[in-house]
Amino acid sequence: MNNDVIVEVRGLTKEFPGVKALKGVDFDIKRGSVHCVVGENGAGKSTFIKILTGAHRRTGGSLKYNGKDFDPKSIREAMDNGISVLYQELNVVDDLTTEENLTLGKENTKWGFIRKSEGLNKTMDIIRSLDDSIELDMPVDQLSVAQKQVIEIAKALSTDCSVLVMDEPTASLSEDEVRRLFLTVKKLKEQGITIVFISHKLSEIFEIGDYVTVFRDGEMIGTKSVPEIAGYDDAAGCPDTFDDATVAEACTELVRMMIGKVIVQEYVPSTSDYSTKLLEVKNVNNRRLKNINFELYKGEILGFYGLVGAGKTEVGRVLYGIDDYEGEISVNGKKAEYKNVIGALDAGLAMVPEERRVDGIFGQLSIRANIPLMRMDSVMNSGLISRIKENRLADKFMNMMSVAAKDREQAVAFLSGGNQQKVVIAKCLNRDADIIMLDEPTRGVDVGAKEEIHEIIRDLANEGKSIIVFSSELPEITNLCDRIVLMHDGNVGEIMKNQKDVDVDHIMSVVAGG
Ligand SMILES: Nc1ncnc2c1ncn2[C@@H]1O[C@H](COP(=O)(O)OP(=O)(O)OP(=O)(O)O)[C@@H](O)[C@H]1O
Ligand SMILES: [Mg+2]
Repeated sequence: MNNDVIVEVRGLTKEFPGVKALKGVDFDIKRGSVHCVVGENGAGKSTFIKILTGAHRRTGGSLKYNGKDFDPKSIREAMDNGISVLYQELNVVDDLTTEENLTLGKENTKWGFIRKSEGLNKTMDIIRSLDDSIELDMPVDQLSVAQKQVIEIAKALSTDCSVLVMDEPTASLSEDEVRRLFLTVKKLKEQGITIVFISHKLSEIFEIGDYVTVFRDGEMIGTKSVPEIAGYDDAAGCPDTFDDATVAEACTELVRMMIGKVIVQEYVPSTSDYSTKLLEVKNVNNRRLKNINFELYKGEILGFYGLVGAGKTEVGRVLYGIDDYEGEISVNGKKAEYKNVIGALDAGLAMVPEERRVDGIFGQLSIRANIPLMRMDSVMNSGLISRIKENRLADKFMNMMSVAAKDREQAVAFLSGGNQQKVVIAKCLNRDADIIMLDEPTRGVDVGAKEEIHEIIRDLANEGKSIIVFSSELPEITNLCDRIVLMHDGNVGEIMKNQKDVDVDHIMSVVAGG
């Protein structure tokens, strides 16, 4: 046995009914390294992770852990052997407090009272080291996505683990939080813990990765060391940090391995009609928002950018009738009186929510059944649901969005993360609303699909739809939006026009409160 290798994967296969998710994958994971796995949506990354962590059983090939055959039958069994996982979809229970979430399933009771255990204190220490604003008695539904994720990370770290698997941990974190997570990853590495790290943000690999494995369509395309992919012959001559140009070039190489072609993203000015105002927001205030003013025009893509917690999602919630506010909102020249989502939909708005698992989809239903949900009359025939219309609609959107699935009958819960997001967007587009709001539209979506989704959004704007994009990814905003609303701490800091070579330093200083 090679003692350097902690996990050895040979000819690993996984077949789901009708889908070969892994088709004979070979690679090694070195002990104490940060090993990244990248690939398009549906390439098989999460499937590999699930086999390693006991959530799925392999259908063929072999997996060795510490030199011995390893075939965990449950997540528990993998954890007991030192392999813990932080899943792509968050697993916290919203109705409970932070403390209750941490003790769920391992309540330590005495005389009928739940006791605080040492384990809980240890987990709380980890939480505080990641985010000191989280308190034990906070109901989890008041925490941001990022904070919920911190709880999940701490839960995974609190068991004694030698391999920690992270499936897209940074997808919903702000830059600042990503920094903190990476510091944690580095600390764990120093303690000898092996990290398996999945991300669609390829540049992250060059900050924390030691190795990267590329999957494409269930196959392993290549495994390389990070210095090697960055163009260094040996690790000895390789710097600790890479400059932007090196990272950009190395990412291009990775994309080529992932999808076999190169993608260029840049801002294409749209043909917005600045004479037709579709939405006007005047002096809007609430618990989180302070005096918000902006306008949205026909055919325009308006971007909201700010760090996590700046108030982007809150603007969306007010517009969508979810939260109360003072001030005035007019849609199409009419004062908006609606107080709920149904009213907002009737007024001509539709939204793709930030957290798809909660607000976006019915996982147990098929793709076909999910897509018409925001506009049932699109599939009705004389008062009954027409299967023919449903099928036609599903085919149209699955084609348009390149949804990778067995067929339209596949339950959405069994799609890969990025493909679930495409179904959420399809469902919203089918609403055919005049104003389409998308909150973090390409979270968890691979680089190729991201560009496809951006292209779809541009087409919609060119057809005369008005679009609002809320995003914490600056490249998404600067590649896509015609005007950019910069938010800081519940305020609009500035509204600027986009252009090629937009001043990124200026944007960063405004959203940081400068
Ligand atoms: N439980 C399941 N039942 C049936 N098919 C599944 C199941 N889980 C995954 N698949 C299929 O296996 C393939 C690989 O999915 P997987 O989730 O591993 O992709 P991924 O690389 O993690 O993608 P993403 O980047 O979108 O998260 C996909 O075609 C997916 O639809
Ligand atoms: Mg996945």
